[in-house]
Amino acid sequence: MASRNHSSTCRILVSFLLVATTVAVFADADGKKPDEKGYAPAAVAAAGAGGSYDIIKLGANGNGRTDSSKAVMEAWKSACGGAGKQTIVIPKGDFVTGPMDFTGPCKGAVTVQLDGNLLGSNDLSKYKGKLANWIEVRKVDNLVISGKGTLDGQGPGVWGKNSCAKNYNCKILPNTLVLNTVNNALVSGITLKDAKFFHMNMFRCKDVTVQGVTITAPAESPNTDGIHMGDSSRVSIVGTAIGTGDDCISVGPGSDGINITGVTCGPGHGISVGSLGRYKDEKDVRDVTVRDCVLRNTTNGVRIKSYEDALSPITASRLTYENIRMEGVANPIIIDQKYCPNKICTSSGSSEVTVKDVTFKNITGTSSTPEAVTLVCSDKLPCSGVQMQDVNVQYAGTDNKTMAVCSNAQVTATGCLKELACV
Ligand SMILES: *[C@@H]1O[C@H](CO)[C@@H](O)[C@H](O)[C@H]1NC(C)=O
Ligand SMILES: *[C@@H]1O[C@H](CO)[C@@H](O)[C@H](O)[C@H]1NC(C)=O
Ligand SMILES: *[C@@H]1O[C@H](CO)[C@@H](O)[C@H](O)[C@H]1NC(C)=O
Ligand SMILES: *[C@@H]1O[C@H](CO)[C@@H](O)[C@H](O)[C@H]1NC(C)=O
Repeated sequence: MASRNHSSTCRILVSFLLVATTVAVFADADGKKPDEKGYAPAAVAAAGAGGSYDIIKLGANGNGRTDSSKAVMEAWKSACGGAGKQTIVIPKGDFVTGPMDFTGPCKGAVTVQLDGNLLGSNDLSKYKGKLANWIEVRKVDNLVISGKGTLDGQGPGVWGKNSCAKNYNCKILPNTLVLNTVNNALVSGITLKDAKFFHMNMFRCKDVTVQGVTITAPAESPNTDGIHMGDSSRVSIVGTAIGTGDDCISVGPGSDGINITGVTCGPGHGISVGSLGRYKDEKDVRDVTVRDCVLRNTTNGVRIKSYEDALSPITASRLTYENIRMEGVANPIIIDQKYCPNKICTSSGSSEVTVKDVTFKNITGTSSTPEAVTLVCSDKLPCSGVQMQDVNVQYAGTDNKTMAVCSNAQVTATGCLKELACV
């Protein structure tokens, strides 16, 4: 048990650091004046009529080796510069590209039709400054990315260069798909595979739907979170299968109105709210619903994690977890308000993070450790308004019994396995 907890804590630490670092990188990028030089369309589309740009016609080569960055960027500039409905077509084939800077604002609505595969170049020297990520969409309204194709981060070639497990100030590797200040977007049908770092990262977005997407990376791949979001509202993740080496989904500070429905997660570290309270002036998390999900062989199921020595007050409230099936999950239900994975925590117990109005309803299945429920809240700000209804997760092993670890949590429970009621 001790070693499990230890290694799990280490992973959580790394996972959090990286989320924070990524957000910080965004904040920097965003603080700068956006690139305002207009894009000259390579082909003229009649105003309002829309246009279509096939990357092969612009010189891309789908042989899996030739760098097609120029053609893809040209397609973006043309599509973004044209009015009406604009489509970038990525046909069947394997197209290697370096960092793609998809900056708006665009004149019309851009659709990226991904029928083939994009492969992220493993020449890390190309990813720097404003081009730190692989595909970054910035300041764009009305975006669709859809198709049966794949964004393949080619992570196996660079994961060995991730030193974040050892080094607090590690250099982070490029995220695969970043939506930075994007409103009204749909990402559907595509696969994201083997990201160098996070597969998808949303920052300052509104009205984003991720639907029918597949995200896959090996369980042991470092920091390959599925979908992270922060400072974003009205985000839906629907009917999506995620298996990675880190959190399947993490809902960071400033997230509001988040629906996660019909997601399968595993392997991975589960579906998390947090980490909260690491930085000053983080915004609240509110109205997060996780419904009809299955977690399979993950280290956590549904988790809320916050620092005990948060730098400024922050509240996570109205979090609902409903109809969730756990299959061999190590920590199926976990609120950790004393999350303090690194040595700079003072653990003074003076928490500034409020966790309240959390509902766990109809959570069933099996746990791979005896502690199916862990609610570790702070003495100063206990978790309040925690409702557990029909929570019935049983330890799958035979050497111990199912149990709950609870402290400072105000819980009401009905219809739960009595060992788990936490009252
Ligand atoms: C989330 O679901 C609730 C109802 O369950 C709905 O009112 C809300 O509009 C949904 N939000 C999004 C972003 O889909
Ligand atoms: C569970 O995941 C671990 C790695 O995280 C893997 O080694 C193991 O085979 C998986 N078990 C099942 C039943 O999928
Ligand atoms: C409980 O959740 C499961 C999915 O995990 C679902 O099949 C079942 O219908 C739910 N039960 C109720 C009463 O909603
Ligand atoms: C059962 O699990 C608890 C919590 O992990 C542990 O403290 C205890 O020693 C275990 N008991 C046995 C008999 O293994």
